[in-house]
Amino acid sequence: MKIRTMVVGIVAATFSMIAMAQAPIVIKFSHVVATDTPKGKGAEFFAKKAGELTKGKVKVEVYANSTLYKDKEEMEALQLGAVQMLAPSLAKFGPLGVKEFELFDLPYIFDDYKELHLITEGPVGKGLMQKLEGRGLVGLAFWDNGFKVMSSNKPITTPEDYKGQKMRIQSSNVLDAQMRALGAIPQKMAFSEVYQALQTGVVDGTENPPSNLYTQKMHEVQKYVTMTNHGYLGYAVITNKKFWDGLPADVRGQLEQAMKEATTYSNGIAKEENDKAMEEVRKSGKSQVTVPTPAQKLALKKALVKVHNEMAGRIGKENIDTVYKATNFDPSKL
Ligand code: LMR
Repeated sequence: MKIRTMVVGIVAATFSMIAMAQAPIVIKFSHVVATDTPKGKGAEFFAKKAGELTKGKVKVEVYANSTLYKDKEEMEALQLGAVQMLAPSLAKFGPLGVKEFELFDLPYIFDDYKELHLITEGPVGKGLMQKLEGRGLVGLAFWDNGFKVMSSNKPITTPEDYKGQKMRIQSSNVLDAQMRALGAIPQKMAFSEVYQALQTGVVDGTENPPSNLYTQKMHEVQKYVTMTNHGYLGYAVITNKKFWDGLPADVRGQLEQAMKEATTYSNGIAKEENDKAMEEVRKSGKSQVTVPTPAQKLALKKALVKVHNEMAGRIGKENIDTVYKATNFDPSKL
């Protein structure tokens, strides 16, 4: 009897060891935007690729639209190991203590994706990613979204129009300075709360690339959208360093390859996704879309570039100068 019990026990233990050996490594990838956005699609692409390249050894579970965690919570969850991957906007790294990421929030510092990539793919981009290691994180890739439009329930065509308007921003001090430079009243708020805040009038307006504006239906509760393209919004895909370093080397290599392919894919669709979303916003007729005249754009630019200097202490003057040099930009010539 005793021997039988032992045999049963051994068999059960063996089965559970086999099951454990075969259980995939789960990566919970949490993010706050809709699936039908550049980031949402990039995350889905990565999940599929990771499964293929690791032959099922890794299972990536994507949680979109703040279904698992909101902005601030997801950062904490990643550091605690409750999730393994995120792609927060570059405007959300200040609270982690890596405030230099706010370089990308500076108004009118990048004219297009090409200029932006000179920085994300150059030494400044690499240096920023390295800084994350001190926070127990690993930066895996930069993913694009796009250039922001302004929206509000009051007209916002000239810099004067922004005076006194309550504008929702992400958790970036550069964005705070940007709104103040226009005389607006910035309000930091989690992405998941923006629609309701706009709908109920807690804030008057906000800024975001069209893909976010449209997929969150913000245009349905905003009377005016101005295509200012005044700033960039993109992401850093990050993982928990302890988790990443603990992966078997071959699996890590396969995930790096999956991330490389997902980055090419996501960055490849970003502009088109935003153009399409803008078209949908226009077609909906829910908000009045304005394209600023060259003179209006220049006035806005002049009102905003002073933020570069104001924020040099926070971001590092050398980082700003590197961008100016790479993109041939001289603010004094405006
Ligand atoms: C926002 O909070 O407006 C954006 O960061 C959302 C996102 O992740 O694109």
